[in-house]
Amino acid sequence: MSTESRPTPVNGIVITFFSTASAVGKTLVACNMASELAREGYRVCLADFDLQFGDVCHFLKLQPEKTLADLQRTMQVEGDSCRAEDFLTPYEREGVHFDVLAVPKLLEEAYNIHHEYAVRAVRNLQPHYDYILVDMASMFSTLNLAMLDLST
Ligand SMILES: Nc1ncnc2c1ncn2[C@@H]1O[C@H](COP(=O)(O)OP(=O)(O)OP(=O)(O)O)[C@@H](O)[C@H]1O
Ligand SMILES: [Mg+2]
Repeated sequence: MSTESRPTPVNGIVITFFSTASAVGKTLVACNMASELAREGYRVCLADFDLQFGDVCHFLKLQPEKTLADLQRTMQVEGDSCRAEDFLTPYEREGVHFDVLAVPKLLEEAYNIHHEYAVRAVRNLQPHYDYILVDMASMFSTLNLAMLDLST
């Protein structure tokens, strides 16, 4: 897709799903909210930043080809000119469509995600979506604090 044909930048709203407790429903609510916002016609991206135990793709029965790890590797080479949209996995069921930024598949990849690249990924995606929903792990990691800072 050429730059000219891209949709008008909207600088999407960033909503993070965070709690200090586990298993309280962050991922379930994030997936349902993504689905409902998409059903209402908004452009939605759901980013799974629960790096070690992310289960968004499991919840949505998706098998991603590319993940945040691939995006980080590309950003390290190409910088912010790379297209983060090319690293997403589409969710499409019953007329509902949104995109998912999948969690790394390998534990060593998860360990190597740097919060700076996660922030840059969200910033890169923001002009292309009305909402970016971020599902997080229950911990005050540097990544999670950076995402809370970035939240709208
Ligand atoms: N409102 C709800 N009603 C019934 N079941 C729920 C509800 N919210 C979550 N669950 C169930 O509770 C379990 C934990 O939910 P979920 O994985 O969304 O929590 P989480 O906060 O993301 O957990 P984690 O911290 O491990 O990532 C899941 O099996 C989910 O289906
Ligand atoms: Mg979860």
